[in-house]
Amino acid sequence: PHYWLVVPAAGIGQRMSADRPKQYLQIRNRFILDITLSRLLDTGHFSGAMVALHADDQWFASSESVQDSRVSTCLGGAERADSVLAGLAALRDVASDEDWVLVHDVARPCLAIADLTRLLKDLEGDSVGGLLAAPVSDTIKRQIASGGRVGETVSRDGLWRAQTPQQFRYGLLKQSLELAKSKDIAITDEASAVEAAGYAPKLVPGRADNLKVTVPEDLPLAGWLLDQIDD
Ligand code: C5P
Repeated sequence: PHYWLVVPAAGIGQRMSADRPKQYLQIRNRFILDITLSRLLDTGHFSGAMVALHADDQWFASSESVQDSRVSTCLGGAERADSVLAGLAALRDVASDEDWVLVHDVARPCLAIADLTRLLKDLEGDSVGGLLAAPVSDTIKRQIASGGRVGETVSRDGLWRAQTPQQFRYGLLKQSLELAKSKDIAITDEASAVEAAGYAPKLVPGRADNLKVTVPEDLPLAGWLLDQIDD
């Protein structure tokens, strides 16, 4: 099977309060989007990347990736799942149902390539797919409905933080996302759509520092992590 990279990058990054979407903030003078795409594509595992962009995106045109023949773009949608579905639709002519799709957050530039390699290897021959995830190490509290006080402590036994890449067969992922959409099931990652369709994605342990740049404080941390990475 071929491996395709689908990168939803149509979000506007409301939690960042910057002058631009977070994927266009810079680390070492490069857009996060360019770092993420080039690090994954340079592994040589992918037949191509499809990046879903916002209709009003004014930044991609000045990225390095715009000149990269491995990178194609399509128009994203209102929700992350719509952007991923748009990416899958744009790959329709080149991807087969049995091909693998790896969906990766544009804002996770620090993915360790060893984790990517482990994901690919662990899922070889699998009929469903899975995701990189890290065991929860903090104690987890659920607050009472209002008031900011603790209602209960949730056992962290068997709890994982879902990361990306999330890797699924093209046909199964497309079906699952369409099903979730038709049933109006709110999903925040691809695995939850696949779960709602009745499958059990495989949890593949990854590094805890596969950081999603979300708030301004994450930016220097991501820069530091990238400096430590030695692929
Ligand atoms: O906001 P959050 O970090 O959860 O977004 C996760 C990813 O989904 C980001 O890469 C963002 O660009 C993408 N996204 C998208 N289309 C949307 C909303 C989010 O591609 N409508």
